[in-house]
Amino acid sequence: MKFSLALTAAALFASASAFTIKFDNKCSYAVWPAIGKAPNGQPDPSVAHGAKLAAGKSISWSVADTQIGIRAWGRTGCADNGTGCKTGGCNGGMVCTDGGITAGVILSEYGYADFGAQYGGKRISWDLSHVDSSINLATGLHASDGQSVRCASGNCPANQAYNSATDYAADRNSPLGATFTHTFCA
Ligand SMILES: *[C@@H]1O[C@H](CO)[C@@H](O)[C@H](O)[C@H]1NC(C)=O
Repeated sequence: MKFSLALTAAALFASASAFTIKFDNKCSYAVWPAIGKAPNGQPDPSVAHGAKLAAGKSISWSVADTQIGIRAWGRTGCADNGTGCKTGGCNGGMVCTDGGITAGVILSEYGYADFGAQYGGKRISWDLSHVDSSINLATGLHASDGQSVRCASGNCPANQAYNSATDYAADRNSPLGATFTHTFCA
């Protein structure tokens, strides 16, 4: 009995210890999704993922709930190996070594936040942002708790994405362990 209780506790802990970033490619062409980490603009290659994603396909990666400074974006017009991208390229090729700080395109951002027990407790704070960056892909971001935002060229209200560093109305937050679907050509 004790053993099975311990297993249940471990399973519950595991299911709540990471959130998921899922990329959904609704474009008619391949996009190269990337995830990096750069809290306060300082690249930390300990969290880095990248792949080529064909039209109509999706791919998911999990990230520990306690991570901060996580960003995710799409690269276009790359060589198969992730180099030479027309938009969103990084240092490192398929898997970026610079946390995406050189990518220069719209990205989704995620970070652990403790709002305090009376204000929702431990959550994942998230948003879309294109501060000082181009909107290379119409981008949607949907959380598994039902919230979603969208930003496209010519249609990107300040409550959907950070256009400037003070667009706090773009901020969202969701429970630990949530799944975030970042859609290209949304
Ligand atoms: C990636 O592909 C390009 C284009 O085919 C090639 O020029 C380059 O050498 C490749 N880079 C690596 C690291 O394989």
